[in-house]
Formats: sequence, C-alpha cells, structure tokens
Amino acid sequence: MDIQWYPGHMTKAKRMMQEDIKLVDLVIELTDARAPLSGRNPDIDEIGKNKFRVILLNKADMADENMNHRWISYFQKAGFHAAAINARSGAGMKQIESIILEACREKQERDRKRGIRNRPLRAMVAGIPNVGKSTFINSFAGKACTKTGNKPGVTRGKQWIRLNKNVELLDTPGILWPKFDDPMTGQKLAALGSVRDEVLQAEELSVWVMDYVRENYPGFLSSRYPIEETGQTELLLANIAISRGCLQKGGTPDYSKAAALVLDDFRSGRIGRITLESPPDHTG
Ligand code: G4P
Repeated sequence: MDIQWYPGHMTKAKRMMQEDIKLVDLVIELTDARAPLSGRNPDIDEIGKNKFRVILLNKADMADENMNHRWISYFQKAGFHAAAINARSGAGMKQIESIILEACREKQERDRKRGIRNRPLRAMVAGIPNVGKSTFINSFAGKACTKTGNKPGVTRGKQWIRLNKNVELLDTPGILWPKFDDPMTGQKLAALGSVRDEVLQAEELSVWVMDYVRENYPGFLSSRYPIEETGQTELLLANIAISRGCLQKGGTPDYSKAAALVLDDFRSGRIGRITLESPPDHTG
C-alpha cells in the first residue's frame, strides 16, 4: 500500500471531483462491503448533492452475505439505490445498468417530456483508494466498450466509456479520502488494508481482528488455524505462530510474523466472509 495522505493530495482530489461532478447526472459510489460506513466519506453527500446517487458495496465476495443484505436495505432506506457486487469477478455487474436507469428515472422522464431523446446518462465512479474503482471501471468497460472522445460541451480531454446508448461513464474516478473522526474507522480500514498499517501496529491490529472474529464469527479462527479459540488473544497468536512455524531464534514465537500472516489471511478472505460493522439501528 503506497497511499499517503497529504493535505495537498486531498485538496487536489476534492477539486478535481468538484469539477468532474458538474459533467455527470449520477454518482456511483463504491464502498467496501466489509465496512460500508467506515469506507465512505460523508462529504460525498455535499459534493454529490443534486445528483442521482447509487451506492455499491464492492468486495461483497469477502463480506458476510447476510450483512450484505442488511446493508443494502439500510442504504435503500436512506434513499439510495444500492447493490452488492464483486467488481473483480464481475458478479453483480449485470444489474448495474438497470440500477443506473432506475436511479435516474426522474431525469429520463423529464427529458422525454421535453422531447429530448437519445441523450445518454452520464455517471462517475467515486470512492476511497483501494475500494475497487479501477477494477469496477474496467469491468464496466470490458462489456462495453466504445471510448468516446471529446464532444462539444464536454471538457477537453475527458474520456467517456460508453456502455450503450443509455449510459456513459467517466473513465477517471473521483477519489475520496477516508474520514478518521472516529478512531474505530481508522482501525477497521487498517484491518482491511485500505490504509497503511505501521509495522509496529500489526500485532495490536491482528489481536483486534482476532477478538472481533472470535466474538462475531465463532469457529472461523479454529477452522483456519489448529488452535482453540478460548483464552487470551495473545496466546492464540502465539499458538498460530508455533503451528505455522513463525519462530524466532531459540524457538520463541515470532509475534510480528504471525500478526502479518493473520492480517494477510483476513484481508484476502481466507479466514472467512467477515463484515466489521453492522448498520446503525433505524428505529431511533
Ligand atoms: P482503486 O481504483 O479504488 O484504488 O482500487 P483497485 O481497483 O485498484 O482495487 C484495489 C484492489 O482490490 C485490487 O487488488 C483489486 O483486484 C481488488 N478488488 C477490487 N474489487 C474487488 C472485489 O469485488 N472483490 C475482491 N475480492 N477484490 C477486489 P490488488 O491486490 O491491489 O491487485 P490484484 O491482486 O487484483 O492485481
């Protein structure tokens, strides 16, 4: 992971997005299905006001399926059009066009009433780094795909990917930065590998992940590693180190190697399909 967040980067990214957003009807926001709120920057609501909005829970293949349904329904209740996808394999991509059309129905009806026909809907993809924006655009483009050049009325140099006569996608995504007001947000994004975790914190992070997993997904850790799930988490980590041969000279457990292994397994979904946060209660 080589993303570093400097205020200058953020300002530039935000400015570019504010420019690009003027060109589109719709914002397709990607978030990580494993932490759908932490993986968003709520500023998008301000930047994207007056635009039609779709939220896609990407990497749904690595998230808890039951939670995917709950999150979709949460975002739908909040007024978004939402779906779960796996941009890498293409699963869920077929529904995207109809979701876009549905989200922009009001505009299409308005156009029709005014006698405007054959004007494609224009969309941009946005999300935090590493959420899968390029993968999504490639997957979208794979099916299309005529790239359209400059057009009158369109900023020079902008490339549009034409899905069909109905939909065009801006080929450069809008980059949002994560918002770390709540320390848990940083913790979750670091666990997912969406922000750089400092080497020194890997042990702490892996212990947090293991605690979360054994509390919320009992049996997952013991299926992956030959360990009991009870007892102190540090002891679990030591047992993982021993069972996987992560040892220092003299045979003592190498905690930092074991931590890196656990984090790598977690991030690639090898421990199981896990979601790190539940939708806030709507009843309140
Ligand atoms: P970005 O443009 O938003 O920064 O993200 P990008 O598309 O580069 O995707 C970041 C990583 O997430 C890539 O993995 C990509 O393959 C993976 N990814 C994207 N969508 C999905 C998905 O729906 N499911 C899963 N499991 N992974 C997804 P990488 O390890 O950086 O590259 P590579 O191993 O694919 O080459």
